[in-house]
Amino acid sequence: MALNGGGTDLVVVNGPSRLTGTVHVSGAKNSVLKLMTAALLAEGRSTISNVPDIQDVWIMADLLRRLGCGVVYDDVRATVAIDVPEQLHYQADYDLVRAMRASISVLGPLIARCRIAEVALPGGDAIGSRGLDMHRSGLERMGAKITIDHGYLRARVPGELYGARHNLDFPSVGATENLMMAATLATGTTVIENAAREPEITDIAHMLLSMGARIEGIGTGTLTIDGVDRLEPTVHQVVPDRIVAGTWAFAAAVTGGTIDIQDANHGHLGVVLDKLTQAGCLIDVHSNGFTITGPERPHPINVSTLPYPGFPTDLQPFVVALNSIASGSGMVTENVFEARWGFTAELARLGAIVRLDGHHALVSGIRRLSGAPVVASDIRAGAALVIAAMVADGVTEVTGVGHIDRGYEGFVEQLQTLGGGIERKPVGGEWDPAV
Ligand code: UD1
Repeated sequence: MALNGGGTDLVVVNGPSRLTGTVHVSGAKNSVLKLMTAALLAEGRSTISNVPDIQDVWIMADLLRRLGCGVVYDDVRATVAIDVPEQLHYQADYDLVRAMRASISVLGPLIARCRIAEVALPGGDAIGSRGLDMHRSGLERMGAKITIDHGYLRARVPGELYGARHNLDFPSVGATENLMMAATLATGTTVIENAAREPEITDIAHMLLSMGARIEGIGTGTLTIDGVDRLEPTVHQVVPDRIVAGTWAFAAAVTGGTIDIQDANHGHLGVVLDKLTQAGCLIDVHSNGFTITGPERPHPINVSTLPYPGFPTDLQPFVVALNSIASGSGMVTENVFEARWGFTAELARLGAIVRLDGHHALVSGIRRLSGAPVVASDIRAGAALVIAAMVADGVTEVTGVGHIDRGYEGFVEQLQTLGGGIERKPVGGEWDPAV
């Protein structure tokens, strides 16, 4: 069971450590949360396997229960069974939605099934404004009437939900998913141009296919969905988490260790592994993942984040951490979330030299960071700070650990297994994820 209420815990890192050993990668957070909402599209029991034991899954399970579903997690088999009733409730309340932006992905399925949805406006990671305009205008084009009041997005479909042509301003992951899910039960054909192509979207599309949906162009920037009258429940296995795999790869790169990353799909990390090779890492791909050995001191790397198959924004904080100890300066450009730099002020507390200019960060490497108290502000920033702390002299205390628990299964325990000088200290008290 995930660590609930551990959000006010702190982790204490005693550096430096060289991380060496084996890790197993779980199913992808950014896929399973949407697969769980996709289950809403069919009455009956859908079962999802390779489910990670993380807080966001528990939040989504609670949200689905509020919508009237029975949700049972089997931690031995890592499966979640979702029993979807004929009649769903259609309101997703603020207390759950504010904890996790992915809650917005109930919108498409609820509109498709109930023709009405009321979803509190989400909070989630503190990494930018994260608008919903493409979700909204896309669903309106399909016949939904949408208003926003009292902190809720309220959608209803007075007539028919019909297929439509969408040309997204930006290949938004969330908007592509909501529109694709709504379109499966709409009348007629929907075309989504400039659709996001992340492996997690491909995963959701495959689950929808197994439920009886008709989707073409999976994995490309143009999705064509022919609506059907009803979908059937299904059984589906979650794709491996490429961001978790990438996190461990950076952990080896930063600490100069060797990590065998099992149950990972290296094909989903093409540009990431190329950049790590440029940094001086040795990568050996095997049938079930890959092994990576970091250099004594990494070369700096220049990285621009982009939608898939570009460099993932979720691994950007790890690039900044790597460049902060590299043998020179590296430029990091953030093109997906405008405000994803908050953690650099924390990294600077460890001695990192980061100069920000708009969506660019110039990072000048120094030989060794030095331990200090820091605060994790989101999932990836928190994990990147912990990894940076692994190569800082002395003690680093990281608070806001609840953010890390949202996306990583047993992160601290895995670091201990790899030889990291790290322990978790319960502090107690209620954690407010929106802070
Ligand atoms: C998802 C992932 C997140 C990842 C991101 C980009 C989940 C739970 N989260 O987030 O980890 O970092 O994809 O790979 O899957 N935007 C708008 N209007 C919209 C929709 C998006 O302006 O209607 C903007 C956002 O503010 C952001 C950018 O588009 O700047 C990307 O957002 P999007 O791709 O939708 O990311 P999420 O689905 O929120």
